Amino acid sequence: MSLLLNPHVKDIVHQFDYTDTDVNNAVKEFLRQMAEGLERDGTSLSQIPTYVTAVPNGTEKGLYMAVDLGGTNFRVCSIKLNGDGSFYLTSSKVEIPKELMVAKTAQELFAFLARQIALFLEKHHTDRFEAHVRRRMTASSPLGFRDESVFRMGFTFSFPVRQVGVNRGTLIRWTKGFDIPDAVGKDVCALLQAEIDKLHLPVKITALVNDTVGTLMARSYSAPGKHGAVLGAIFGTGTNGAYVEQLSKVKKPLVGDYDASTGLMVINTEWGSFDNELSVLPNTPWDIALDKLTPNPGLQMYEKRVSGMFLGEVMRQVLLDILKNPNIPLFKDVDSRSNDWTSVTEVRETSPIFQPWGIDTKSLSVAAGDNMPPLPLLRGELESLDINSPSFEDAQVFKAIAEAIVRRAARLSAVAIAAIVLQTGKLTDPDLADEPVDIGVDGSLVEHYPCFTDMIYEALRAVDGIGEEGAKRIRIGIAKDGSGVGAALIALVAGRMETANEAAGISELRSTVNTVDDPENERAVSESD
Ligand code: BGC
Repeated sequence: MSLLLNPHVKDIVHQFDYTDTDVNNAVKEFLRQMAEGLERDGTSLSQIPTYVTAVPNGTEKGLYMAVDLGGTNFRVCSIKLNGDGSFYLTSSKVEIPKELMVAKTAQELFAFLARQIALFLEKHHTDRFEAHVRRRMTASSPLGFRDESVFRMGFTFSFPVRQVGVNRGTLIRWTKGFDIPDAVGKDVCALLQAEIDKLHLPVKITALVNDTVGTLMARSYSAPGKHGAVLGAIFGTGTNGAYVEQLSKVKKPLVGDYDASTGLMVINTEWGSFDNELSVLPNTPWDIALDKLTPNPGLQMYEKRVSGMFLGEVMRQVLLDILKNPNIPLFKDVDSRSNDWTSVTEVRETSPIFQPWGIDTKSLSVAAGDNMPPLPLLRGELESLDINSPSFEDAQVFKAIAEAIVRRAARLSAVAIAAIVLQTGKLTDPDLADEPVDIGVDGSLVEHYPCFTDMIYEALRAVDGIGEEGAKRIRIGIAKDGSGVGAALIALVAGRMETANEAAGISELRSTVNTVDDPENERAVSESD
């Protein structure tokens, strides 16, 4: 009997099923938790008001900086918005050293970030940087330079933050393996600005942005269509979404300043913590084992079933169990009939299978991408995991389990998307009958995992209130570099609010094809040329 037909293997694959009924129940629960989060603080879905009250329309112009602290990398960019939906982006990226993710003090991490900003300015904006160093020596202002020559910067900080204004917010909790208790409760903008000022850099943080909000902004800036995107979502190392909500539905108190004229407010759902109570989320023994390995057990339970940081580890947990199970001869010479008889199939002791977090979600992408028997690419990948001579049958089993894990993740992703589409009422609004419902997405899963978006659509079609017709109107598109561009867009608006010294929002930009009358932007654009 082929290993794939082994009943124990079939049972494992089956445990990752998430049926249409499960999806529909979860959508109902998601909607309930969304409403709860709009009512009060301290709920599973945080539903954080961002004080961003409109989305851009593509005409915005100017040169801005943005930095992005995500789960794995720190990116520094400067973005020239061209005003026609296009932009020019210069960026640099460093991997965040593992020891800084769990540093003793917040200052250690933020000092590292400020140093990266200095290196970027020195390399890519040498003129501006040197002019500043000169000015610093001579000028009499406290920081040594005049405010108008300062780069406005958007800070994309992809962790849950209680936002109290467009450039102020305190860290609620760390996610994605970060754990620096010292930073919790502190204003992350102030922490970074303090380190930037210590280096006397000509940079002022004018916007604090979650990556999902950035993605929503960027998609609205560059996607075709009269109406902006309704949702920006990340399916990468972590997962989360931000959507445009009716201000009237936000019942909890809003503490910061904002422009109420649009009647809208962008909400950062922090859906990674959807259903921490596990009332509708699946919970296999391998999900339980994974949760115990994390610094935040019991939290981010949806994220731990959906996002790239965790899927490889779910796979590893399954493999560890299988290797102990005498009923499943995986990676053994027994029953590996198609194997080369001169080689011995075995998992070496050094294999990353035996190390926590040893399997990357990339290996699952390789499994999904190899559809040619005898699965040579996947078998090569397994060799790289220190598995000696894996057979075709071994690879088939690995592939079946990996695909089941990711398919469940995609169907769970559809739950959040469906609930938000239903919440916005766009599918039933007669005025929008011919309009697509636009969703901007970014992250390694949607970008690199074969057919992840197709699997999302398959589940969307099964949702009551969406169906075949509704799913056709939902347009999911990649917002590449979304978080950087989005942060720049918000920095632009915040800068204008500051200059005009009045509560003006992006809504104003919608009606003003700008820059010609905007000395700030003109200066910025010409300086970059
Ligand atoms: C964070 C979110 C973020 C998401 C995607 C999650 O772990 O809590 O704030 O948007 O990852 O990066």
